Amino acid sequence: MSAGQPPGQAAHPVHVAIIMDGNGRWAQLRGLPRQEGHRRGLEALRAAVKNAGELGVKILTLYSFSTENWRRPATEVSFLLGLLKRFVEKDLDELHAAGVRVRVIGGRDDLAPDVLRLVERAEMVTRDNTKMTLVVAFNYGARDEIVRAARQLAAAAASGRVEPAAIDEAMLASRLDTADMPDPELVIRTSGETRISNFLLWQAAYAEFVFTPVLWPDFDRAAFEAALAEYAGRERRFGGVSEPVDRNVGAA
Ligand code: IPE
Ligand code: IPE
Ligand code: MG
Repeated sequence: MSAGQPPGQAAHPVHVAIIMDGNGRWAQLRGLPRQEGHRRGLEALRAAVKNAGELGVKILTLYSFSTENWRRPATEVSFLLGLLKRFVEKDLDELHAAGVRVRVIGGRDDLAPDVLRLVERAEMVTRDNTKMTLVVAFNYGARDEIVRAARQLAAAAASGRVEPAAIDEAMLASRLDTADMPDPELVIRTSGETRISNFLLWQAAYAEFVFTPVLWPDFDRAAFEAALAEYAGRERRFGGVSEPVDRNVGAA
């Protein structure tokens, strides 16, 4: 969906992206270790995939681990990686049976070989599924993604395959990890934080944002529906003017 589309009521989003935040605080509030928050966060992730399918969302992108999350204590990092690995291992068959295509976005060069193999297998096995696409943003940072795309274009230009003057928005977008996907119309962030934390900087240029205080482990069907309802009430203008204003201008 490009920013060139006509203004109008938001209706129903095709692509929803979620910054799943607040696992640590969820655990802290209960006097539990952060790991327990992440475990419950994984349950919320499973539920979100199911709910998205039932609510007619065709693409669900989930921010599961950022390029900055490597800064966390080594024990937390390895717990998170293990949890995500087990999720793919355990849930792949079920996701495949449900017609879910799995895609992983983010840098791959620094992934451990076993994680890389798992990612590639999940994508390969589910590549022809059409019911819904689950995009897992893992080792993902939007700046890193844009840098990798720029590097590819620079190499193509240096070798004479691409004319620098021919580089436009579409060409750059085609080198991003999300190349063949429409942009998210809705980005949800849980836990009350109101920042983007290096998520989909390019793709969310015209997304609607819904910030909810709900901590990620508590993000249930009702919370998902509430975010969609908030989105449905938005007017998307893409730099244009809303319809009544448009008519006034025409009449003047
Ligand atoms: C989100 O929860 C999970 C990841 C970022 C991987 P957090 O772990 O960030 O939870 P808070 O923000 O500390 O509560
Ligand atoms: C964003 O959450 C990353 C993910 C949800 C994977 P963080 O908890 O890492 O973000 P900051 O540090 O609060 O900006
Ligand atoms: Mg956080």
